[in-house]
Amino acid sequence: MKRVDDFRLRFGKKELVPIMIGGMGVDISTADLALEAARLGGVGHISDAMINTVTDRRYKTKQVKEKLQQYKHNVSNSDKSEVQFDLGRLEEATKLHVSKTMEAKRGDGLVFINCMEKLTMNAPKETLRVRLTAALDAGIDGITLAAGLHLGSMGLIEDHPRFRDAKLGIIVSSVRALQLFLRKNAKLNRLPDYVVVEGPLAGGHLGFGMDWAQYDLATIVAEVHQFMLDEHLDIPIIPAGGIFTGSDAVAYLEAGAAAVQVATRFTVSEECGLPANVQQEYFKTSEENIEVNQISPTGYPMRMLKNSPSIGAGIRPNCEAYGYLLDAKGNCSYIEAYNRVIAIEPDAKRIKVMDKTCLCTHMRNFDCWTCGHYTYRLKDTSHKHEDGSYQILSAEHIFHDYQYSTENKIALPVKHELELAK
Ligand SMILES: Cc1cc2nc3c(=O)[nH]c(=O)nc-3n(C[C@H](O)[C@H](O)[C@H](O)COP(=O)(O)O)c2cc1C
Repeated sequence: MKRVDDFRLRFGKKELVPIMIGGMGVDISTADLALEAARLGGVGHISDAMINTVTDRRYKTKQVKEKLQQYKHNVSNSDKSEVQFDLGRLEEATKLHVSKTMEAKRGDGLVFINCMEKLTMNAPKETLRVRLTAALDAGIDGITLAAGLHLGSMGLIEDHPRFRDAKLGIIVSSVRALQLFLRKNAKLNRLPDYVVVEGPLAGGHLGFGMDWAQYDLATIVAEVHQFMLDEHLDIPIIPAGGIFTGSDAVAYLEAGAAAVQVATRFTVSEECGLPANVQQEYFKTSEENIEVNQISPTGYPMRMLKNSPSIGAGIRPNCEAYGYLLDAKGNCSYIEAYNRVIAIEPDAKRIKVMDKTCLCTHMRNFDCWTCGHYTYRLKDTSHKHEDGSYQILSAEHIFHDYQYSTENKIALPVKHELELAK
């Protein structure tokens, strides 16, 4: 019976344990988590989502405060076109986060950064170019292009000295998206180094419509394989979404996948950025409490716990401080949804906005509990304490469980001493 450890992810001469921990935005996949994956010989991801607030929190900079100060006069104005990111500060924040992470890297694995195109930041092209360039400058091993078609993203960095040496990958949810990406980037004479094929059971935003349940990962992966064969392409394929056990992973590796990308199991690790009380919500949740909804202003469906505080919260848009989802004209669908409710209830002290959410604020505060479909199975991966709470796991334990388990078994962690003493 094979284990994940019987396989290797190959990038040229480099061999890695074929486990990639996926990017989880706004510092849920922390540097600590990514560094553990690299130390153990796999691939970890940090994320550049809301990078200014992440560096403020981690490295005591004051970028968000300064931006709010600069645009304070605009807070009650629904036209946000004036609220621009300072590209120099964006570069500084990205370099700080990436370089500090890379300096701390140990072991043979790699650390990549997850870069979402949908974070349009009121100047999509300019801000994306800065984010990608700064990450390369600061020594990131690779960039995963996520949440978007990224038709022009590689072109933004084609003159960078590391364009051909850093690993560049794309996340797609269909052959068609991959075809489009390859066609648009053909003239660059540089294929992606890997393709993450993300199915409908993943966490975060989904690359499907509300008919997501009609798709399944294995079928899409098989279609991508066939497409690669037909086109004589040899790009590593990395399935993602709902791969919960080592055996689930082995099934894909035996069918020709180069590695797997996983995330949900790591949301309850010590190294994950979610606060402890939120991790307990993930442990305790039931299948019925998980939904895919359309409240993200990105326009993509998103999976989350139904008791996420972000659902229905009618807070004033926080674009002067954040503003990561403002499009090229300074619009965000949350602002429109908020204004619609305000127009109906002008005197209400507290309002509820049901159709969209202020994703920046809620992701920043860990109030949008986005999760993978199998989050309800997390309770089977740990011990329950007498008080009803669950024991948090180490990332190493989860990584090794993927790496070495067979027969769909999930190894439980060693019980905390405190528990044994009881
Ligand atoms: C809490 C959470 C946040 C996520 N955030 C992002 C993100 O910011 N960008 C992204 O490309 N994918 C994101 N994802 C998707 C993961 O990177 C990964 O591809 C997917 O969840 C793997 O499936 P699994 O969670 O069933 O293991 C997120 C997933 C979770 C669980």
